[in-house]
Amino acid sequence: MSNENGKKKPIGLAIVGCGTIGRIRGELARDYPGVEWLGLCDIDEKVGRKLAEDTGADFFTTDSKELLARSEVNAAIIATEENEHFGPVMDSVERGHDLFIEKPLATNALESAEIVKAIEGEGIDAVVGYTLRFRRKFLVVKEKLRNNALGDVTTVTTRAFMNRLVPIATVEKTEHRGKLTPMVVSGTHSLDICMWLLEGKKPVELYARSVDRALGASYGTKDATTGIFSFEDGTIWSMSISWALPVIWPGSVYSLEIGIVGTEGVLTIDDTHRDMVLASERAQPAGYTPEITRNVDFLTSYPPGDIAFDQLWGPMREETNAWYQRVHVGLDTPHATAADGHRNLMMTMAMDLSAKRGEALKLPVDPAELVAELG
Ligand SMILES: NC(=O)c1ccc[n+]([C@@H]2O[C@H](COP(=O)([O-])OP(=O)(O)OC[C@H]3O[C@@H](n4cnc5c(N)ncnc54)[C@H](O)[C@@H]3O)[C@@H](O)[C@H]2O)c1
Repeated sequence: MSNENGKKKPIGLAIVGCGTIGRIRGELARDYPGVEWLGLCDIDEKVGRKLAEDTGADFFTTDSKELLARSEVNAAIIATEENEHFGPVMDSVERGHDLFIEKPLATNALESAEIVKAIEGEGIDAVVGYTLRFRRKFLVVKEKLRNNALGDVTTVTTRAFMNRLVPIATVEKTEHRGKLTPMVVSGTHSLDICMWLLEGKKPVELYARSVDRALGASYGTKDATTGIFSFEDGTIWSMSISWALPVIWPGSVYSLEIGIVGTEGVLTIDDTHRDMVLASERAQPAGYTPEITRNVDFLTSYPPGDIAFDQLWGPMREETNAWYQRVHVGLDTPHATAADGHRNLMMTMAMDLSAKRGEALKLPVDPAELVAELG
């Protein structure tokens, strides 16, 4: 893919949501030569104005409609919190902007379907922020599977473990916690990776179970969900996540193990970050929550990357700059599409529904059924 006539498209970038992730992408925009105009929006004026000052942004407002309607804007990043993607995404689509939407695409299945319909109807180039795809190890695995290194894949196992600091920080932002489940908010990353690796296979059945004994009463979310998917061609996949690991667990966010078995091979992925362990009497800041410190730390376990010399290095830098290249010069990139984001939401919510009902489900589930039963 490249732009028509190989022309470079000057980027007029709007970033809606200037929190942790909006800040990372905004700081990278400041240093990307193709971004010629930068406008920011946050309903929290203090947070937004601080980023505007730090990035030398050209414009700031607390009203996303005002920003997205500016004549300079032709591309938008929607980095609002999980429940707040729909409005600014639909306003961007209406204006025809190239789009980068943080995961999950939405937290309401019907709104998610409406987003995909609008994006496809308007022919918008829209991607979703599944940052793990930009880790070198997953790109290598994808390339092996694309080239059929294992024969036909028949069996996949996925185990995601997360420090409970993540759900606590996530649900504390909102009163609407019921849909912020481990699968919808975080398991979606490992689900996206596995569905990307299994590209072309169609899930047809699912059985899942959840528990909520550690986080349910205090935080209004679940601890863990495990599910077994069957695919049309007979492939089986067991997907398990717990985001209730104790705060003292040395991983700051995610640890992931995946096993993929094919008719002619096997590939195992250890992404647990136990290859770099720091232990010190001097407690160190624990990545994205500086107020928490650790004496033992699995280094590099914050998925976006790591700060060195005041800059973020790692997958979110590659993911963001690759998207700027996609918009600016038409680079072909492995970002998840809006349709991938919608499929991921449907599958993660189907796990929550199967667990709620305590019964197996045929897939796909109707978005209206998910909304009616999951709220
Ligand atoms: N890809 C990844 O690795 C990754 C990692 C963390 C978070 N995320 C996703 O990124 C998104 C943002 O997460 P975060 O950690 O930056 O959250 P955050 O709470 O730090 O920032 C969100 C910001 O959005 C603002 N906001 C909310 N509603 C708004 C609206 N209607 N208009 C303008 N601003 C609004 C809030 O005031 C806040 O400053 C979420 O969807 C999250 O799931 C992705």
